[in-house]
Amino acid sequence: MERGRRLVLGGRWLALVSLLFITAEAAHKSDSGGDAATTLINHSSILIQRLHELLQNGNASDITLRIRTTNSDEVKIIHTHQLLLILQSDIFEGLLGNQSVVTLKEPPECAALFEKFIRYFYCGEISVQLNQAVPLHRLASKYHVSALQKGVTDYMKTHLASESTQGHVVSWYHYALGIGDEILQESCLKFLAWNLSTVMNSNEWVTVSDDLMVSLLQRSDLVLQSELELFASVEEWVNRNNPNVSIIEKILRSIRYPMIPPSQLFQIQKQSMLLTTYQHFVQDLLFQAFQFHSASPLHFAKYFDVNCSMFIPRNYLSSSWGSQWIINNPARDDRSLSFQTQLGPSNYDSSKKITWNALFSPRWLPVSLRPVYSESVSSASQSNRLEEGRPRLVVTSAMSGLDFAGVTFQKTVLIGVRRQQGKVFVKHVYSIHQSTDEVSDFLAQADLQKRTSEYLIDNSLHLHIIIKPIYHSIIKAK
Ligand SMILES: *[C@@H]1O[C@H](CO)[C@@H](O)[C@H](O)[C@H]1NC(C)=O
Ligand SMILES: *[C@@H]1O[C@H](CO)[C@@H](O)[C@H](O)[C@H]1NC(C)=O
Ligand SMILES: *[C@@H]1O[C@H](CO)[C@@H](O)[C@H](O)[C@H]1NC(C)=O
Ligand SMILES: *[C@@H]1O[C@H](CO)[C@@H](O)[C@H](O)[C@H]1NC(C)=O
Ligand SMILES: *[C@@H]1O[C@H](CO)[C@@H](O)[C@H](O)[C@H]1NC(C)=O
Ligand SMILES: *[C@@H]1O[C@H](CO)[C@@H](O)[C@H](O)[C@H]1NC(C)=O
Repeated sequence: MERGRRLVLGGRWLALVSLLFITAEAAHKSDSGGDAATTLINHSSILIQRLHELLQNGNASDITLRIRTTNSDEVKIIHTHQLLLILQSDIFEGLLGNQSVVTLKEPPECAALFEKFIRYFYCGEISVQLNQAVPLHRLASKYHVSALQKGVTDYMKTHLASESTQGHVVSWYHYALGIGDEILQESCLKFLAWNLSTVMNSNEWVTVSDDLMVSLLQRSDLVLQSELELFASVEEWVNRNNPNVSIIEKILRSIRYPMIPPSQLFQIQKQSMLLTTYQHFVQDLLFQAFQFHSASPLHFAKYFDVNCSMFIPRNYLSSSWGSQWIINNPARDDRSLSFQTQLGPSNYDSSKKITWNALFSPRWLPVSLRPVYSESVSSASQSNRLEEGRPRLVVTSAMSGLDFAGVTFQKTVLIGVRRQQGKVFVKHVYSIHQSTDEVSDFLAQADLQKRTSEYLIDNSLHLHIIIKPIYHSIIKAK
């Protein structure tokens, strides 16, 4: 059947077709190998060069594509070859039929890339820039060029963090949502959640759609300075986007008011235009937040359900919630850090502090791997053993036996928190399981010995430890 289609293409194709056959045959011969006299004559790059010239000069073209830009008179003419188009796209196969001139309508950003797109059919390669990813993906999807489609998706997943003036992740998220690519959608969401402070301070913030705003605000893994910072940014977003009241209600009810100290809460209640205008949407939540601040969480939980998102802290970077820890030359030796956090966000506990000790070991050996007679082992062989260890981070409370009355602490460690022109970047988030003090699989792939490790910034490991009180268990304790 393949052969039949090629034959229909007629005499002028014979040269190209036989060239393809010869290459196929050569490749086949080399595969069967074994003979010492066999050699590989490889002219594949010349062939690609020829094909490229074929497109450039339009020699022996049998299909003329007219690319019309939607809502404009602009038409671009490309002389192409049916064989190469239908080789990779069943859509072209259906479109072309036996016509020799085909008109295609494309939006401006796709029309601008159409020649580049067609060149891919001849050369099998294409360069992509951040702002070209979406229109290229759109073209690849529309014409069913699945290899290109996958290539662009992979490009997007690995370039979320690339520097761009306007920001691109929000628009990629919206695009992924539109085409139903859930994996790309989730990658974008995670990027936005973990780098939220940066995104909120960028031009991208106002381009966030209603739905994206609602889904971001549901997340407990947002990394940002404080809940107040989030409120201020949300207010700015509302002012710029004028969403309808049902959206405003939804997002105002997603702010975690108990995480804002009462003095600041009172201030925004009186001074924020947004809150004064829509106070009726959140009156119950504000009232509850003030109640939360005026009693111990234990007492409060007797009367109110604290098992809801409003009482779950997000990943706040401000100092009452944890500490930054920059470990210079981390592969060298063990380090420790002592820091204080608040007992909890309730104003009732504002004077109570907890001291935490963090211990970092670059090469820790689990007990099972340690030499049995470790005391008597010579220091030389012990240091050999240490080379095999893995990074370890342990965070413990310095106050042993202190009864936190049913409150458990979720310890979270952010990696690669980097300040760049005041921006915060997060590479990885580890949550320590509540039953232990230790991060499991901590920096398992980080290769800290290498100065070039992507987990290091100027040969320093940037950690940020966050301590979040969790009140769920109070209910259980009752
Ligand atoms: C032929 O050469 C090209 C580069 O010119 C190379 O990419 C390709 O792998 C070579 N093919 C074989 C079978 O070695
Ligand atoms: C292709 O066309 C160009 C210009 O029209 C011409 O110079 C060139 O010789 C042609 N090449 C072949 C292989 O026919
Ligand atoms: C091909 O073109 C002829 C006229 O030139 C027409 O009669 C025929 O229906 C066309 N076939 C297809 C598949 O479009
Ligand atoms: C946040 O940004 C940093 C640096 O730009 C990047 O390396 C990291 O992957 C981002 N976080 C997520 C979850 O994508
Ligand atoms: C508000 O906008 C959302 C979409 O953004 C829509 O689904 C909803 O019906 C709108 N509600 C009202 C009351 O207009
Ligand atoms: C908290 O609520 C969730 C559902 O919202 C439930 O699955 C979980 O068991 C609750 N936890 C406690 C301790 O009640």
